[in-house]
Parts: sequence; C-alpha cells; structure tokens
Amino acid sequence: TYVVTDNCIRCKYTDCVEVCPVDCFYEGENFLVIHPDECIDCGVCEPECPAEAIKPDTEPGLDKWLKVNAEFAQLWPNITVKKEPMPDAKAFDGEEGKYEKYFS
Ligand code: SF4
Ligand code: F3S
Repeated sequence: TYVVTDNCIRCKYTDCVEVCPVDCFYEGENFLVIHPDECIDCGVCEPECPAEAIKPDTEPGLDKWLKVNAEFAQLWPNITVKKEPMPDAKAFDGEEGKYEKYFS
C-alpha cells in the first residue's frame, strides 16, 4: 500500500484524490490518509502530491504512518474531489515533525 505521511499535515493539497482509481483517500481536518486495504498499489498518486507526502510503505521507517493511515481511514469520510489547499499550506510545506507538534 501507499501511505500519506507527515508533510500532508496542514497542507492538504488534495491533488492525490483526483487520480486514485479506487477512491481510497479519506479526509481529516488537517490531512488525508489512504485506506491500506483498498489501495491497489498503482502508484499514480505519489508524483501528484506537491508536498511529496505520499510514499510506498516498503520504504523504511513508515510503520508509524501505516498505522496512522489504517486507523483514520476507518473514521474519516471518503474524499474524491479536489478542493482548495489549507490556507497556510505553503507556510507549512516542508516543516519537520508536524504530527508530533500538532497531534500529540
Ligand atoms: Fe490510490 Fe493508487 Fe495511490 Fe493507492 S497507490 S492510493 S490505489 S492512487
Ligand atoms: Fe496531502 Fe499531498 Fe494529497 S499534501 S492531500 S497527500 S496531494
């Protein structure tokens, strides 16, 4: 599966949702997640993300993000249509450790 990682937080550009053939993105207030059981590993979303936040879970160190994606995909609503990025998306793009700063 592919996973949405830290840099989506407070950016949420949503380009990714338009290209997913199985519509497996789910939307929280500050970022999106991919449902790991629905993702077919096609990889087309990865290059679409301006924040480079989408990665294959085969990359090392993404265990935490796989858990985050799996957990919130069950709680959040599906999103399939692109919308405006978050208001300060550019300011937050590239900030390190957003999950720790804003969610714990
Ligand atoms: Fe959707 Fe393909 Fe991205 Fe998985 S890898 S979330 S199926 S676009
Ligand atoms: Fe997030 Fe990138 Fe999609 S910032 S909403 S994963 S395009």
